[in-house]
Amino acid sequence: MHIYKHIYTFSYDNAEADLCKLESRYIFNKDENNRQLFSDIKAEPSHSAYIKKRLDIISYSDEYSALIDNIKKEGICVNGFKVEYLVLEGDDTAYADRLNKLKDVGYSIEGDPDYYNPTVTYGICAHEGIWYFGVLNKDSFHWHKHNQKPYSFSNSIGVSIAKALVSIASKSNHKKSLIDACCGVGTIMLEACFAGIKIDGCDINWRACRDARKNLTHFNYQATVFRSDIKDINNRYDAAILDLPYNLYSRATDEDVLHIVKSSAELTDRLVIVSTSDITDFISSTGFSISDQCNVGKPGKSGFARKVWVCDKNI
Ligand SMILES: C[S@@+](CC[C@H](N)C(=O)[O-])C[C@H]1O[C@@H](n2cnc3c(N)ncnc32)[C@H](O)[C@@H]1O
Repeated sequence: MHIYKHIYTFSYDNAEADLCKLESRYIFNKDENNRQLFSDIKAEPSHSAYIKKRLDIISYSDEYSALIDNIKKEGICVNGFKVEYLVLEGDDTAYADRLNKLKDVGYSIEGDPDYYNPTVTYGICAHEGIWYFGVLNKDSFHWHKHNQKPYSFSNSIGVSIAKALVSIASKSNHKKSLIDACCGVGTIMLEACFAGIKIDGCDINWRACRDARKNLTHFNYQATVFRSDIKDINNRYDAAILDLPYNLYSRATDEDVLHIVKSSAELTDRLVIVSTSDITDFISSTGFSISDQCNVGKPGKSGFARKVWVCDKNI
């Protein structure tokens, strides 16, 4: 049996379950299942919209007592450590027993624990008869500060959707270059900048461009926003993200949408498109094929359903 290097747990609203799986396919080449995933790929929780925790496995055993012996043999000596129990799907260890196990692990590590400001957090968990111990890395949730961006508007996409689009477009490779072809107030750009990914923005509306620039400056991010029709951009990018205008608020005819998709297709070999209406015919007319797709549900009263398409240029 292959023992993976990392165990991931996920957190998401049911409306974004399919988008989480899509993001997971582009980071790990497989779907998360039951909000957990085992992989040898190391991904940063704060750079994903839905990864909550990553356990970097130090030791494992099918015998709990052997795992504790292994931890002691590691000779870990650190002040300010904390131990958490990661409850995975199928683990029915009772709460009191979990607390006892945390104590067992704590007594196997030398140094003073610190529950509130740990220098390092260790994790223990059980899955399909194997006990695992390792270092636990958590999403810092610092990116949630983008919810308080100074400028927003009714068309702005949700922060976690924006973050997932960046992961999908970049395939979680931080060396990729992106363009947000219809950037609005820059919600997607903020997530790329947070992850250290180079992104340019473009919007035909000067007010949107002004607000996007102000939002970027507010968080001390540096990125270029072109006040332009996307057809007039000439640079090349690894991928373009298109959060298309919705008829609901910003008016766009079928011709406008086709124009944006075709113009963006000139700049890249990969498109990640978000739309409230079905634009599959437009995609095939640009010489691109749909590689993957998902639905994003309505999160609340004001929300509306969207579809995400990942498209690659036909060779
Ligand atoms: C749905 S909004 C994008 C919202 C953005 N993702 C955000 O969260 O703020 C679509 C944007 O497309 C822009 N747009 C429409 N036609 C365009 C074109 N030809 N080139 C560039 N931007 C365009 C609109 O001005 C609008 O800001």
